[in-house]
Amino acid sequence: MRADIVILAAGQGSRMKSSLPKVLHAVAGKPMLEHVINTAQKAQQALGEGKIHVVIGHGADQVKAKLGHYDLNWVEQTEQLGTGHAVQQTVPGCAGADVVLVLYGDVPLIQTSTLKALLSETKEDQLGLLTINLPNPMGYGRIVRDGQGSVKAIVEQKDASEEQLLIDEVNTGIMAIPGSKLQNWVMGLGNNNAQQEYYLTDVVEKAVSEGCTVTHVQPEKSTEVEGVNSRIQLAELERAHQKELATELMISGVTLIDPARLDIRGDVKVGRDVLIDINVVLEGNVEIGDNVTIEPGCIIRNSTIAAGSIIKANSLLEEAEVSAACEIGPYARLRPGAKLEEKARVGNFVEIKKSIIGVGSKVNHLTYIGDAEVGEGVNIGAGTVTCNYDGVNKHKTTIGDGAFIGTNSSLVAPVNIGAGATTGAGSTIAKDLEDNQLGVARARQRNIDGWQRPVKKS
Ligand code: UD1
Ligand code: CA
Repeated sequence: MRADIVILAAGQGSRMKSSLPKVLHAVAGKPMLEHVINTAQKAQQALGEGKIHVVIGHGADQVKAKLGHYDLNWVEQTEQLGTGHAVQQTVPGCAGADVVLVLYGDVPLIQTSTLKALLSETKEDQLGLLTINLPNPMGYGRIVRDGQGSVKAIVEQKDASEEQLLIDEVNTGIMAIPGSKLQNWVMGLGNNNAQQEYYLTDVVEKAVSEGCTVTHVQPEKSTEVEGVNSRIQLAELERAHQKELATELMISGVTLIDPARLDIRGDVKVGRDVLIDINVVLEGNVEIGDNVTIEPGCIIRNSTIAAGSIIKANSLLEEAEVSAACEIGPYARLRPGAKLEEKARVGNFVEIKKSIIGVGSKVNHLTYIGDAEVGEGVNIGAGTVTCNYDGVNKHKTTIGDGAFIGTNSSLVAPVNIGAGATTGAGSTIAKDLEDNQLGVARARQRNIDGWQRPVKKS
C-alpha cells in the first residue's frame, strides 16, 4: 500500500503578527513544521511506501532556508486560497497513492501512533477524520452529524449557525483521503463561504453525497491536535507539552523539584535517581547519567554528563563532555569542546573551552582555560589564564600530571608545563617548564623603609 502524506504549511498565520512564517515558530525548541516532518517520516517508515509533500507559500524562502535539507517533495502554493486549494497543488504528486494523509504544519504534536490508528480504522475508499471533543471548541471547524449519528459535514467557525457553534466535537484538520477519490473531490471544491476560501473540509459533504462512509478516530491526548494560530496558543501548547515531557522524566525515575520549572528543548536522555532543581533548561542532545544532580538555574546544551556528577547553580554547559563524579560550578561556563575526566572540579567563574581537564584535576576559581590539555591531579590556582590567542591564531597549552599552577599565572601559548612542575603566583609563563621545575616570572619585591604616604593638599 502506498500512503502519501501531505503537510499544509503555506498559510500566512496573520494572527501571529510576525515576519517569521507561522510554521517556523518553535515548540520545545523546534520549528512546528519540523515536528510534523519528523512525525511524518516516522509514520512513513512504519507504513512502508509513500511520498511526503509539503505545501509552502507564505515565506517559502524562509521555510526552505530552514528546513530545505529534508529530502521531501516541496510544493509551492503561490496564492493562499485555502486548505482545499493547498491540497490541490499536491494532486499531481499524489497520483498513484492508495491513501493520502493530510497533516497541518501548525498542528505540531501529532503522534505516529494516532496516524497509524487513523489509517488502520479507515478502510479502502472511506474518508477518515481525526476528531476530538474540546471543552472550548472556539475557532475550530465543527463536526455535524445527522439523526443517526453519521458525520454529515464540517462547518467552519465563521460559517456555523448558533446551534452548530454549540457542537464540541471538532475537526483536527487531519484526514485520510482515498487516493482514488482525491482528484475528483479536491479539484471540484468551491469557495462559496464566509472566507471565500477553498475549504478542504468540504470533501466531507462530497464523500457523503457519494455514499462513501466517513470514519472517525480520536487521538489519545488533546495536545496532539491543538493548532497554533496565535502566540497565546503557542505559549499554551508549549506549557502543555513541557508538562508531558516532565511527566515522562518523572515516570522514568527522575526527581523534579518543580516539573513546571524545567524546560526541555531537544532530545534528552536522563538516567535514574537524577535530581533536577528549578529553572533548568535542557537543549539539543543531552545525556545525563544516573545519580546526577543539577542545581537551580543551569542551562545544558548538547552535552553529556556521566553518573554521579553535580552541576551547581547557574552553570552553563555547551557541547561539553563531563565524566563521572565531577563537580562543576556554581557559575561555571563550559564551552564547546570542554572535556572533563573523572572527578575533575571546575569552580565558580571559570570558563573552559576546547580543553581536556584530566582525572581529579581542579580549576576552582576565576580562570580561563582554552585550547589546553591538562593532565591528572593538576591544581590550577585562582585567576589563571591560558593566553591562547595572539590576535590571529590560537595556540595550545599543555600541563603535565601533578603540576601546580600558582595563583594569577598567565600561560602564554604555545607553552608546555612539565609533569610535577610549579609556577609561582603572578607569573607570566612564556617558556616551557621541564618536569618538576619551578617557573617564577615576576618582578622581584623591593621593600622601602620609612615610606611616607602622600598627604592631602590644604
Ligand atoms: C483548519 C480547518 C478547521 C480545523 C482547523 C484545525 C479548514 C477550512 N479548516 O482551520 O476545520 O478545525 O484547521 O486546526 O480546513 N494553509 C495552506 N494554504 C492555505 C491555507 C492554509 O497551506 O491556502 C495551511 C496553513 O499553513 C496551516 C493549515 O493549512 O498550516 C491550516 O490553515 P489555517 O488557516 O490555520 O486553518 P484553520 O482556520 O485553523
Ligand atoms: Ca490553524
